[in-house]
Amino acid sequence: MKIAPSILSADYVNLQQDIEKVDKAGAEYLHIDVMDGQFVPAISYGPGWLKAIRPITNMTLDVHLMVQNPERFVEQFAENGADIIGVHVEATPHIHRALQLIKNAGAKAEVVINPGTSVEAIKPLLYMVDQVLVMTVNPGFGGQKFLPETLKKIKQLDQLKQTEGYDFDIEVDGGVKNDTIVDCQKAGATVAVAGSYVFDGVDPAAKVQALKDATK
Ligand code: DX5
Ligand code: ZN
Repeated sequence: MKIAPSILSADYVNLQQDIEKVDKAGAEYLHIDVMDGQFVPAISYGPGWLKAIRPITNMTLDVHLMVQNPERFVEQFAENGADIIGVHVEATPHIHRALQLIKNAGAKAEVVINPGTSVEAIKPLLYMVDQVLVMTVNPGFGGQKFLPETLKKIKQLDQLKQTEGYDFDIEVDGGVKNDTIVDCQKAGATVAVAGSYVFDGVDPAAKVQALKDATK
């Protein structure tokens, strides 16, 4: 299981230190939550942050766009160093085009589904994606409680990988801790985002290690 600490819960004033801690601890991805105050109520940070972060780490930069009509920003995020760009199927009438734009910009393409969206809604896209993000909370804030009913969608996607021969990663995001991560792994998830669990304490590196130990 790859671990993707979300900087949404990191210390913004000492961001470089927090990033270096999880990097040294062996986290494979760094998850970057972009919020626009429209698709979700909060505003977080934009492409400039990515440009600042890119030179200080070799971790895979995993950008989660919680923005309306994300295709407007894809090229800018790719130029600024995003390795993976995730777009919500709920955020644009042109999800296929948005995924094409990501691939054309040279990044890996991810489609994201909210807890209220079924796997059926993204079936026509599965042949073209590198990663599917199953939201395990409603997007918008860190520190929410994991929704166990989302596990069946992870299982469904894992099944489709086997029957159809797809090879996308399955990422989970929201309420992931050392217990819920085990259920996600059993269901077929291959990448786990964790924000508050990793950063809301004194030792982010120990938390990354705990997630790794739980999913060995
Ligand atoms: C929520 C974001 C998450 C958030 C997860 O909308 O997409 O990435 O940082 O936070 P935790 O791990 O605290 O639920
Ligand atoms: Zn996220």
